Amino acid sequence: MTAGSPGSTDTAVTNQGLASPMSASQGSANTAAASPVVYLDHASTTPVDARVAARMAEVLNSATEFGNPAAASHDYGGIAGSLVEQARCQVAAAVGATSSEVVWTSGATEANNLALFGVAHYYRERGRHIVTSRTEHKAVLDPCRELQRRGWQITYLVPDRDGLIDPGQVAAALRTDTVLVSIMHVNNEIGVVQDVSAIAAICARHGSAWLHVDAAQSVGKCPVDFAGLGVDLMSLSGHKVYGPKGVGALLVSERKDGPRGAHVQLAPLLYGGGQERALRAGTLATHQVVGMGLAFDLAASTSSVETARIACLQRRLWQGLAAIGGVLRNGSATHSVPHLLNVSFDGVEGESLLAAVRPHLAVSTGSACNSSLGEPSYVLRALGRSERLSESSLRFGLGRTTTERDIDTAIAVLSQAVSRLREIAGTRPEKVPNLGTPG
Ligand SMILES: Cc1ncc(COP(=O)(O)O)c(C=O)c1O
Repeated sequence: MTAGSPGSTDTAVTNQGLASPMSASQGSANTAAASPVVYLDHASTTPVDARVAARMAEVLNSATEFGNPAAASHDYGGIAGSLVEQARCQVAAAVGATSSEVVWTSGATEANNLALFGVAHYYRERGRHIVTSRTEHKAVLDPCRELQRRGWQITYLVPDRDGLIDPGQVAAALRTDTVLVSIMHVNNEIGVVQDVSAIAAICARHGSAWLHVDAAQSVGKCPVDFAGLGVDLMSLSGHKVYGPKGVGALLVSERKDGPRGAHVQLAPLLYGGGQERALRAGTLATHQVVGMGLAFDLAASTSSVETARIACLQRRLWQGLAAIGGVLRNGSATHSVPHLLNVSFDGVEGESLLAAVRPHLAVSTGSACNSSLGEPSYVLRALGRSERLSESSLRFGLGRTTTERDIDTAIAVLSQAVSRLREIAGTRPEKVPNLGTPG
């Protein structure tokens, strides 16, 4: 049995048949052996859990579950509708929301767009100022840029060197015309966790600034309590949680407590059949939402033992990489989820390193959405990293199937590739200062 393959006997939680990794020979014509590529890009996407895939296939193949969930005039619609409602309850239960707060979308990108444009347009007479951060996902930054083009003013907060936003920065940025603050929960490149609950309290005190949180990377990695955090809007994605791609949700709070005495309102992006309380028109893809519901249900039961296992693997990976020398860990080591590790390798160009390890490792230099652009990570640049170090970083995303053997393979492959690339570039490891300490 090879490392990382389904049923691999290391300490990984058995995941009942997650997709088998591509064989190395597919990745490189030079590699003869069919050793699998170690998948360490779970922040980009996760394989669909076999139980989720099976349930989705059941819905697709069923003679009774294919109805339009909005068709109230017959049982076919009723059956599909009740599947959608069951999934809504599963998602809500996993994140501390009520089912009526869940609005289905095509993913977190659409959820972010609905939150930003929805609030901006609904409250455009009240104010046109939005606060966000430089390290948000592009699915927040691009809508912000578009709103700016349309006349809104955006304040971009700069995190500290660890990637953290001080809630005091949010308080200082609020103005009388601020209508929205959008700060992510878990960062998709460096894994740091923002103090969302403190930011929510600041927004509530302000009185008219709603808080949107992109939590696409949070579920199954750290506790998410929509009501407890006091957030108004929260974006979720199916495929980061071993569910299907092409489905997500925006949680829209119905809480009327606090100084505002009202809950957030949105202008829809899509008009049509009035589905999703007229916030998101369009016939729902029953099998997709059923898949996301089950995936969230399974994620909600992620045990602390599994989180501790991932933390152990992450420590092992960092210690192995730190031993190479001239490496730097990006982002707070304490305020972060263990599933992500972002490391700069001094004296090595990230894209060259990626190419060198590609036959053996599936990793990335940052967000999948930016990797095609070949630009240094704007997230690392926002942390104050030099262009050189920002260009020499890799993001490791650990997940349910990651084993100790995968981690050891990654360390061995990277050690070799980094030494070789440094040799070619004339930057020998001993000349490279030690930039990070294991921890
Ligand atoms: C933090 C964050 N927000 C939003 C998205 C977009 O999610 P989706 O692929 O569901 O549209 C991602 C995915 O990479 C993400 O990591």
